[in-house]
Amino acid sequence: MTYLRIERLNKQYGETVVVDSLSIDVARGEFVSLLGPSGCGKTTTLQMIAGFVEPTSGDISLEGRSLVGTPPAERGLGIVFQSYALFAHMTVAENVEFGLQMRRVDRAARKRRCLAALELVQLGRHAAKYPRELSGGQRQRVALARALVIEPPLLLLDEPLSNLDAKLRHDMQAELRAIQQKVGTTTIMVTHDQAEALAISDRVALLNQGAVVRFDTPTGVYDDPGSLFAADFIGRANVLHGQVMHDGVQRVLRVGPASLQLDEPHPCGEYAFSLRPERIELVASGAGCVDGRVRACAFHGNCWSVNVSTDIGELQVQLANGGGHVAKVGDAVGLDWPGGALRPLALHTTSAQP
Ligand SMILES: Nc1ncnc2c1ncn2[C@@H]1O[C@H](COP(=O)(O)OP(=O)(O)O)[C@@H](O)[C@H]1O
Ligand SMILES: [Mg+2]
Repeated sequence: MTYLRIERLNKQYGETVVVDSLSIDVARGEFVSLLGPSGCGKTTTLQMIAGFVEPTSGDISLEGRSLVGTPPAERGLGIVFQSYALFAHMTVAENVEFGLQMRRVDRAARKRRCLAALELVQLGRHAAKYPRELSGGQRQRVALARALVIEPPLLLLDEPLSNLDAKLRHDMQAELRAIQQKVGTTTIMVTHDQAEALAISDRVALLNQGAVVRFDTPTGVYDDPGSLFAADFIGRANVLHGQVMHDGVQRVLRVGPASLQLDEPHPCGEYAFSLRPERIELVASGAGCVDGRVRACAFHGNCWSVNVSTDIGELQVQLANGGGHVAKVGDAVGLDWPGGALRPLALHTTSAQP
């Protein structure tokens, strides 16, 4: 059942198309990320949902009612924008209560709901403090409590964690997800961080130049990116250009001198395929899909990344750190992967399907 529907949404500034016929359907309780490079129209889309920016055309509806033309305050949405700072002269509790006061909720109910919201973000003990007495992560949790306390039909987050350092950001991602699941508020989050989008979301809408390139679950988008743009933007990928043909027994991808087995039926012709670095295994020369020589080897703590020159080009391989040494520069190695690890790519960035 669709809860939030965005239909052929467009935004133009003069001749410049910033959001281009964007359509997504979101179910009640879902956490959806709008992911894409800087300038691709994520914030503009979120601002149109919030009501701060008027669409040039298209519709946004919540439970079947169009929001277009309704002023932001009447939409009653919970918003955490990067730029939405807390009121410095108000305590944490006053900040959180502010929205309830505006809605003329009585004092007793205000106190109760404010405390519940602060408990939810684990800041119950900090109610009397001022924002300047809190860490960056705590301030963002106050902003989240302030957005959630009004029990909004929709929570909108614009890069809510991007001012936090890497470790805190990682912890806050898990916390944000846990809080959202607890309250069940349908949430749209803007991020340019692909790892963050994959970690938190039920579904990810990948945007490029204002258009949705892909809208799918994190595993769907990652395992089967479907386009060169998605394969490149989300995670790392080896891209193999070749000729799909029938070798008498099965479908194969011919890349240079190599014939690579394909698991799934695929039309013959010129195509590009992606191969994720962590799907490749290092084996003895002659025992894998291709042979090669190690050109570079870098240690990243939890994994190694190994570059191997082969007849089909240089391939990136990612190997989990199991404690030992994996390979050294100059080693002759074989590279092996299951046929299903080769995923077909459409070359057009805006095409959703291969
Ligand atoms: N008010 C505006 N007037 C003109 N151009 C704008 C305006 N707001 C945003 N843009 C342009 O729209 C594009 C998308 O911006 P934005 O939605 O902020 O991208 P993102 O959030 O994905 O980084 C950018 O090229 C930006 O310069
Ligand atoms: Mg933005």
